[in-house]
Amino acid sequence: MEKPLPDGIAILDFGGQYCHLIARRVRELRVYSEILPSDSDASDLEALGGRMKLKGVIISGSPSSVRSERALTLDSSIVDYGLPVLGLCYGLHLLAKMFGGVLGRAREYGVTQAFIDEPTGVLEGLDAQEQVWMSHGDTVFKPPQGWKVIAHTERAPVAAMVDPTGRLWGLQWHPEVVHTTKGGLMLRNFVYGVCGAKPNWAPADMVEETVEKIRDEVGQGRAVIALSGGVDSSVAAALAARALGERLLAVHVDHGLMRANESQQVYQAFKDTGLQLEVVEASERFLKRLEGVEDPEEKRRVIGEEFVKVFEEKAREFGAEYLIQGTIYPDRIESGTTKNSDTIKTHHNVGGLPEVMEFKSVIEPLRELYKDEVRELGSKLGLPPEILNRQPFPGPGLAVRVIGEVTREKLEVLRQADSIVVEEIEKSGVGEGLWQYFAVLTNTLSTGVKGDERAYGYTVAVRAVESIDAMTARFWFAPWELLERISSRIGNEISQVTRVVYDVTHKPPSTIEWE
Ligand code: XMP
Repeated sequence: MEKPLPDGIAILDFGGQYCHLIARRVRELRVYSEILPSDSDASDLEALGGRMKLKGVIISGSPSSVRSERALTLDSSIVDYGLPVLGLCYGLHLLAKMFGGVLGRAREYGVTQAFIDEPTGVLEGLDAQEQVWMSHGDTVFKPPQGWKVIAHTERAPVAAMVDPTGRLWGLQWHPEVVHTTKGGLMLRNFVYGVCGAKPNWAPADMVEETVEKIRDEVGQGRAVIALSGGVDSSVAAALAARALGERLLAVHVDHGLMRANESQQVYQAFKDTGLQLEVVEASERFLKRLEGVEDPEEKRRVIGEEFVKVFEEKAREFGAEYLIQGTIYPDRIESGTTKNSDTIKTHHNVGGLPEVMEFKSVIEPLRELYKDEVRELGSKLGLPPEILNRQPFPGPGLAVRVIGEVTREKLEVLRQADSIVVEEIEKSGVGEGLWQYFAVLTNTLSTGVKGDERAYGYTVAVRAVESIDAMTARFWFAPWELLERISSRIGNEISQVTRVVYDVTHKPPSTIEWE
């Protein structure tokens, strides 16, 4: 029997930095959501029908103004489609403009008090005064004819409004942001209450359907996947293995720039899963090519190029026509689907494979999912926690953590130091929830005393950061005693190291990695 489609919400992306947050909040309610470009029309809503039972539409915020000449507009067929619509910030302005409301300039930024005039519909269950988070330059001064104002603030006379039929809603504030104290309740009211959506979606439900899709696409062909051991490529490989069995080859390239025992861990995690895995020991070739290379970008380029060569050789040997990749939803959106947001960051993975290699097609089984959802799926597939909870690790590996030229000796020192950092932080039990923690081998040599003798050796830096998405990060306020333990162990156990420093820079201005 066909599985029924989950209820879903479409989010129209006008370039607000919080668009992804809206999509995630809806999914946290266990209602499926997808982001569509701002110029979508009713036919695009219709096209979502294959993946969800569409129940409503949310219009995101935007960095621009509806009053500017180049303002992005909302296609009227979206509103005419007949589903409930919730406009947030710019979304409210679009609705106001479309239906003849009056807008002008009045800025609010940050935490603001909203006065709830009518706690109905989206605002049901709210108190007379609520804390909300604002970020806007335009304000609705008069609602469209017949629309009801249901909340205001000191500066915004129309901070929330609803059309006469109770189908179209607008909020000036951002319910998706944590600083809107009851934002979760507002979204819940819209999704469950106004739209009547049921919480009938879970990422783990996607296993069968995704496996089926991979089978359909590959037919009797063969596929390869580059398995770094990171959570995305691991989950994609596990799914593809279910679909294709022996017709999938996972290639783990050990470029000699992995952390201690990392390639063995990847092998161990997958050896009994039925995944056909080949670990290619290629450290010689990589280290040879890195000889004399000091510039970080040049290191990345050399490693990426060599990686493609190794992978290409294996793919050709195996006769693969399809490439499977662990691309997830934010990767895809950051690299261009979102037309209206400012470029956040170009992804610097060693991937780049499809441009260089010829495949019939590239399959991305996780393309609709967020990281935590990928973990949930991986857990359903039985992947071990070491893989699912692995810290992000850059494609070029330790090469970007050894400052300056990379040598075998330096890599060995760094591996030992890194193991101590990881072990001590994990043992302390206080580092849970950290985004990353690791050691860096700086190119500063310094004087020390070892035994009673003068020593001249490496300076190791310890980095530990908190972050939600790696776009920004805070250095971790690590307990002094823990830093002391790490520093003593590194100094005592690694003879070539004479000094240990702790990195106290946020991102920005620094990046998380040193190179
Ligand atoms: P930065 O150093 O840019 O890092 O603040 C942000 C996040 O990305 C990871 N990172 C990389 N990941 N290839 C990757 O796949 C790379 O070249 C790369 N450089 C940085 C980094 O570990 C952090 O989580």
